[in-house]
Amino acid sequence: MRRLKRLDLHLLQGVNHTIEENDRVLILDPRGKKYLITVTNRVFHTNLGKLDISELIGKNYGDKIKSHMGKNFSILKPNLIDYIYMMRKMPQTINPDDACQIIANTGISAGDTVVEAGAGSGAVTLLLSYTVFPGKVYSYDINERFLKVAKENIDTYGKGNVEFKLKDIYDGIDEKDVDLVSLDLPEPYRVVGHAYEALRAGGFIFSFSPCIEQVIDFRREISKYDYTEVKSIECIIREYEVKEKGTRPKTRMLGHTGYMSFARKA
Ligand SMILES: C[S@@+](CC[C@H](N)C(=O)[O-])C[C@H]1O[C@@H](n2cnc3c(N)ncnc32)[C@H](O)[C@@H]1O
Repeated sequence: MRRLKRLDLHLLQGVNHTIEENDRVLILDPRGKKYLITVTNRVFHTNLGKLDISELIGKNYGDKIKSHMGKNFSILKPNLIDYIYMMRKMPQTINPDDACQIIANTGISAGDTVVEAGAGSGAVTLLLSYTVFPGKVYSYDINERFLKVAKENIDTYGKGNVEFKLKDIYDGIDEKDVDLVSLDLPEPYRVVGHAYEALRAGGFIFSFSPCIEQVIDFRREISKYDYTEVKSIECIIREYEVKEKGTRPKTRMLGHTGYMSFARKA
């Protein structure tokens, strides 16, 4: 049997897990502010007081820890979305609300093979890594500095199933029989033909682009190949504030993130 790595063990921890040194935990202050920390013998400073982190050892998820100001902090088990929001960022990432559209529109799941470009900070890489595990993610980027950050993030939070490549995806895709080619880069239309070669029949290409011109170029290129289920969407989220005196949409909302296009190899 494959030896379980420390992170795999962490993922299997149930809510009754007794916290040990080097575990990763989410600390929630009374106002809802989150801190992702590794359990070591040290003092952690927050604006609601200092926490003695060694006090976490022997506690369970759901227990509390008190700061020196007497404020109660909850101890929770972090999840994938906590990791994505709290990981180190270099280039702009796709937020989870948008990135989850990949799963909704392509049906990728455990055991699948994905090619991604560019890796950027590794936010989408992490989502893909969790979704297809024990399948594999091949993540291309041309920028060595960004690849280093993505690799650090995946080594810390990922599932050991990502291979990074310092490679220009406009030059081609090495992999074959791929279930998904996922793109977040300036000229996605230049990958449409390579993706067609790399995909298995029924596999998907996905592209995220901030500007409509990129979508138009992408769709024009898609129409030259035998792709089906072609669509372009954007994900607009309107959150509500719920108060005793009245419930209504929040006054401010995020106006635009990006357009997402999908196509399936026929
Ligand atoms: C916006 S970032 C991707 C962010 C990533 N999706 C995330 O959520 O963390 C775009 C990335 O594409 C990379 N890139 C640009 N052109 C590329 C190419 N031809 N091949 C591979 N990567 C490329 C850039 O270096 C950059 O890291």
